[in-house]
Amino acid sequence: MPDRDSVPAADLPEGTVRRVGDWAVGNRGPGPDGDDRYFAVSRVCRHQLADLSEGTVDADGCLVCPWHQSRYDVRTGEMVEGPRGFLGYHGPTPLYTQLVRLVGSLARLRVRRATRRGDDVVLD
Ligand code: FES
Repeated sequence: MPDRDSVPAADLPEGTVRRVGDWAVGNRGPGPDGDDRYFAVSRVCRHQLADLSEGTVDADGCLVCPWHQSRYDVRTGEMVEGPRGFLGYHGPTPLYTQLVRLVGSLARLRVRRATRRGDDVVLD
């Protein structure tokens, strides 16, 4: 039986992310066909386990980690850009960034369908 997790749509304006249980649920704005606005992905970053529900949505509709700004495609869960730093360091780390991105592209976030039903965004 599927979980029926939900969040009020009013709490998810465009560009925001919220925690719903183990999931980071967000609103990336209207897609080309207008119906892929909402997303839900597992909320633990593949880099150093930051809570992705505290992240942001960038102009491309990617979820950005709050710690080192790894970027995720929320449609597939794939890390499309690696971290800028590690632990407390925030800055360029070109080889390390590419290595983590490779791992993150293979070990994707889990993805769940999120759709608006009435006043809520419901996870199927
Ligand atoms: S913990 Fe997410 S990018 Fe480092």
